[in-house]
Amino acid sequence: MTSQQLIDKYLEFFKSKGHQIIPGASLIPEHDPSVLFTTAGMHPLVPFLLGEKHPQGKRLTDLQRCIRTVDIDNVGDNWHSTFFEMLGNWSLGDYFKEDAIKLAYEFLTNKEYLNIYPGKLSVTVFAGDDTAPKDDEAIRTWLSLGIPEERIYALPKEDNWWGPAGETGPCGPDTEIFYDTDKEKCSDKCQPGCGCGKYVEIWNLVFMCYNKTKEGRFLPLAQKNIDTGMGVERTLAILHTFDNSYETELFKPVMDLLEDKLSGHSQDFNDVSKDPIKSKRIIADHIRASVFLLMDGVTPSNLDQGYILRRLIRRAVRHAKLLEIKKEEKVNQQIAKLYINIYKERYPKLLEQQDIIINELQKEEDKFEISLNNGLKVFAKITTNLKDNKITGLDAFHLYDTYGFPIEMTIELAKEKNLTVDEKEFNQEFIKHQELSRKGAEKKFKGGLADHSEMTTKLHTATHLLHQALRQVLGEQVQQKGSNINPERLRFDFNHGEKMTPEQLANVEKIVNDQIQKGLDIKMEEMSVDEAKKSGAIGLFAEKYGDKVKVYSIGDFSKEICGGPHAKNTKELHHFKIKKEESSSAGVRRIKAILQ
Ligand code: SER
Repeated sequence: MTSQQLIDKYLEFFKSKGHQIIPGASLIPEHDPSVLFTTAGMHPLVPFLLGEKHPQGKRLTDLQRCIRTVDIDNVGDNWHSTFFEMLGNWSLGDYFKEDAIKLAYEFLTNKEYLNIYPGKLSVTVFAGDDTAPKDDEAIRTWLSLGIPEERIYALPKEDNWWGPAGETGPCGPDTEIFYDTDKEKCSDKCQPGCGCGKYVEIWNLVFMCYNKTKEGRFLPLAQKNIDTGMGVERTLAILHTFDNSYETELFKPVMDLLEDKLSGHSQDFNDVSKDPIKSKRIIADHIRASVFLLMDGVTPSNLDQGYILRRLIRRAVRHAKLLEIKKEEKVNQQIAKLYINIYKERYPKLLEQQDIIINELQKEEDKFEISLNNGLKVFAKITTNLKDNKITGLDAFHLYDTYGFPIEMTIELAKEKNLTVDEKEFNQEFIKHQELSRKGAEKKFKGGLADHSEMTTKLHTATHLLHQALRQVLGEQVQQKGSNINPERLRFDFNHGEKMTPEQLANVEKIVNDQIQKGLDIKMEEMSVDEAKKSGAIGLFAEKYGDKVKVYSIGDFSKEICGGPHAKNTKELHHFKIKKEESSSAGVRRIKAILQ
């Protein structure tokens, strides 16, 4: 069975049970600023789990791409990955526990679907605590389906409770379904959830009926929901009786390529600091995650999602170095192309974004390569004169600031030499540095708009026109990355992998001036973030879900969430001129423009 066949089977099965197939969302959550990534299928559905009506009804099914960086240290083992695809079925106040378990069991064991031998399945359920009782209903249902008592394990909250995805929100007890790989038990205590790899969790059914509040209380939700997540890679692997995800078609071409690169090496990798299997898997996992993050519009930076992407790329580069793969081979580019090929039917955006993905990846690598060797020399020097086997936070910060070593990489390098890092001191240095640069930035720019003068206001409207024109010329993936306006000029930062051509700049200028000439009215409406999103407005959806936002429209040309103020009609802007287009940071370009 191929991954696509598995996905189709799942979606079709749930469709036949009255579910509507809905599309997966971006890896970057659109409604929830409290989390960096979509870590589960529930993210895009939070408002509906909380009671809002979903336009497609109460039974939904989908395929959601996810990123989980909490598992980054486990990457290299048989099953963990940072990026993965998850199949889900959702009941929004419709069916509940018993039906959800029965549906899952049918899909897994029925001959027409996955046809898994029931004897290979074990399950875990919530053992009960102050928040909720032991899940006897789940136990009863599993028993009724023929799963014997000795393969039903009751575990505490750490194991059998899911959510909320952020600090607050919908959550509840779950039942997890494990497949026995027939590996030897790691000890007498080995059981589902132990982590040795004998039992692989393939599906989690969450009985989402609580809402965690800011105060840490769990209140019953008005509607009882079902949220399930089945891991595509893991399920595919067990269907092929592989004991790890890397043998599946989703990784195989990449693992083969890496194997090929190593086959010519005379080097014996028995050296303790080198674990070639782990390194290969880390490269394969991290580049796949990077490809999808780049597809969803993230570019490497020192902030938020951009920083995670930077870490992933840099860690992959370092592991390629550990495997002595030469940078001239551009192995990560080759791997990215393989992934684009593997996933292109499912995610056509990968092909559209291919050039951006490859360029960004290469640029970040080149940047890191320059400092990596020098940084490693400095690291070696630091670690020869150590007291207490501990690298100081100051040294770790120096490696970060001067050589671009993400702290996690310094910790990993240290671990390989049985050393530790003073992370507390590093964090202090980091915060000190952030405050200094923030103060500097505030002094220089006072936020987005320097003032509310007539000229600044007009330039602000011109910024919206520019934003939309850039999307028309360079593609819809263009997003604002920063803006600063004073009465003399506007400055606009946006994600784009390379220098704009003179033709592109002329085109953008022309589009903006055409809109100015048309004399378009600027209108403001207040609406909820969701309405704004649905209306096609672009902009930063940083407000909390449910809050009202202002949406400014310029004729039918542009619609953007923004606090204002703006001109009344584009005629007031006279003529728009781009003065400069330059690089601002990795993957981010900056335009300075004036009105005259
Ligand atoms: N939210 C649950 C999980 O991610 C089930 O979808 O495991």
